[in-house]
Amino acid sequence: MSVVISGICGFVGSSLARWLKESQPDLEIFGFDNFSRPGSHLNRAVLDGMGIKVFHADVRQASDVDNMPKAKWVIDAAANPSVLAGVDGISSSKQVIESNLYGSVNLLEYAKRHQAGFILISSSRVYSIAELQKIPLAPGAESYVFDEKQQSPQGVSANGIAESFSTAAPISLYGGTKLASEVLALEYAAMSNIPVWINRCGVLAGAGQFGRPDQGIFSYWIHSYLARQPLRYVGFGGSGLQVRDCLHPSDLSLLIKQQMDTANDGRPQICNIGGGKNSAMSLKQLSNWCSEKFAEHTVSTSSDTRMFDTPWIVMDNGLAKNTWKFEPKVSLNDILEEIAVHAKEHPEWLKVSAI
Ligand SMILES: NC(=O)c1ccc[n+]([C@@H]2O[C@H](COP(=O)([O-])OP(=O)(O)OC[C@H]3O[C@@H](n4cnc5c(N)ncnc54)[C@H](O)[C@@H]3O)[C@@H](O)[C@H]2O)c1
Repeated sequence: MSVVISGICGFVGSSLARWLKESQPDLEIFGFDNFSRPGSHLNRAVLDGMGIKVFHADVRQASDVDNMPKAKWVIDAAANPSVLAGVDGISSSKQVIESNLYGSVNLLEYAKRHQAGFILISSSRVYSIAELQKIPLAPGAESYVFDEKQQSPQGVSANGIAESFSTAAPISLYGGTKLASEVLALEYAAMSNIPVWINRCGVLAGAGQFGRPDQGIFSYWIHSYLARQPLRYVGFGGSGLQVRDCLHPSDLSLLIKQQMDTANDGRPQICNIGGGKNSAMSLKQLSNWCSEKFAEHTVSTSSDTRMFDTPWIVMDNGLAKNTWKFEPKVSLNDILEEIAVHAKEHPEWLKVSAI
């Protein structure tokens, strides 16, 4: 069996490559990256050392993708993964669409030509921002809490957001490219009879993640707190009550291992994949966790509001549990501990990756 991973030197791509290789030494893994994410170059030597071939290539270039050796499976993990991509003044909207959407099309063409299976790392950001903002929440002392007494939008419960939640625009350019990739992946599955699995992931987190305020928030926060770098609660009145769940990539790799052993057999092709309500916390709770671990550090507040800010994203894993017996194994605390150890061992990390 062989697998090609796009964005193989990113946090998710490199983590999947490592976990899959460790659990299946016979699996031939290779991949490519254009090293646009600061810090991604550091993963190249690690993967090389494990016998995982890394090519320097760009997913936007059809000829680069066409030139990849043949593989039985494709994992699409190359993207600009920020919800602010295309509106942050760093990347243009066209660049985001080229990497995130046209890149997926190039990979789907590759999968069609080689009759390879295709696994898309999609995102919780395909869900409607307006509807996410309507989720009834009670402001607890430490975090927003889902309020079961009030009427909620379709597809959400105290267990989180389900696949039936609205995907109506606006969902951000990032979310839009992911949703469009999902639709096209399903079309290629039907047209070319290739297996396609779409994992709508919530926040993924772990050691070695490149963190910025807009992406990789758990890593960014812990590294910044330890290094006593300025941190701010933005949005929601500067309360820090906004909640996200998080999942360790090793749990995603266990799922992907199963998916690579499964042909399309009528089971749902799109599943929400996240840590779920047991792995959810607010920024304020994350700061409290850090203050118990490290020296106290003051987090400032900001009255700014940001486009696309949402108060509560928790993934309901119910469908994945029924479909794949998916059950996260790595606890929230273990994820935070792992990042904290990495932060202590790598005081230079923010300079490498938070740029
Ligand atoms: N990290 C998360 O919390 C999370 C959550 C949901 C979905 N995802 C998805 O997982 C995938 C990987 O995200 P990540 O967190 O590892 O981000 P990342 O930035 O760490 O990794 C992405 C990698 O893709 C590479 N890349 C970007 N554009 C490229 C291009 N045009 N050609 C080749 N390589 C390119 C980057 O250099 C980087 O190494 C993305 O598709 C993202 O949307 C991530």
